[in-house]
Amino acid sequence: RTVYVNGDYLPETEARVSIFDRGFLMADGVYEVTSVLDGKLIDFAGHAARLTRSLAELDMAAPVTMDELLTIHRELVARNGINEGMVYLQVTRGNPGDRDFAFPDPAKTPSTLVLFTQDKPGLAANPQAKIGLKVISIDDIRWGRRDIKTVQLLYPSMGKMMAKKAGVDDAWFVEDGFVTEGTSNNAYIVKGNRIITRNLGNEILHGITRAAVLRFAREAQMEVEERAFTLAEAATADEAFITSASAFVMPVVQIDGTAIGTGKPGPVASRLREIYLDEMR
Ligand code: PDD
Repeated sequence: RTVYVNGDYLPETEARVSIFDRGFLMADGVYEVTSVLDGKLIDFAGHAARLTRSLAELDMAAPVTMDELLTIHRELVARNGINEGMVYLQVTRGNPGDRDFAFPDPAKTPSTLVLFTQDKPGLAANPQAKIGLKVISIDDIRWGRRDIKTVQLLYPSMGKMMAKKAGVDDAWFVEDGFVTEGTSNNAYIVKGNRIITRNLGNEILHGITRAAVLRFAREAQMEVEERAFTLAEAATADEAFITSASAFVMPVVQIDGTAIGTGKPGPVASRLREIYLDEMR
């Protein structure tokens, strides 16, 4: 695989980042995952806009312009022959040459920019979409700025492991009795013609897929309610689903052992998945 590190395209075995990099020592960095279908980037503009916001919220300078970032994305997709898959991008606060809690002077310590591709043939035709996901609920003990897409993913990783141990696919986070989001996706329930998903705020990541899917839902005359919902409300919903750049729209058929609706992927989630893939590719 050819990867990108700070201006260079290199074989992955030759890529190097300092052990003093603040991404490594402090999880002081942000990332984006952009999917690729038919060799084309999906919603790059959305991911670039969110990256710009994440960087600003953490007082981090953008290492290159968003136009240059687009060029790097395209170059990596081409060099690695990606037809379906993802491009991962990470910006960290760089290598100050030692460990210190205070941020280094950005003039002396440039940020570190790393990108790589992930080849995922069959991403759009994922057979899981016909089966749906089973999830458990777990306490949301993440930090309070989940709107910033930081690389601090230890608890989401632990959540995935709790799900695996429970014999299911993923976990939904619950805080103060309300669902926030999934470990690496936004969470939704459906009641009749209404789609309900957590309102934007510091409590959840502002999903790029979420924004597009809600727009398509409204265009298709579905009702959208952006508000918090409880697990009890989810248990009696007609359908549930998640969205993310890598899963697109994916039905959820079971929460904490309770079947949602018929226990099979529902028509709203399946239709939204179809619309999303049609419109975006
Ligand atoms: N995860 N919420 C969380 C906590 C996420 O990590 C993600 C994305 C989303 C969905 O955002 P988007 O639609 O922009 O992908 C919501 C990415 C895909 C990941 O970590 O791999």
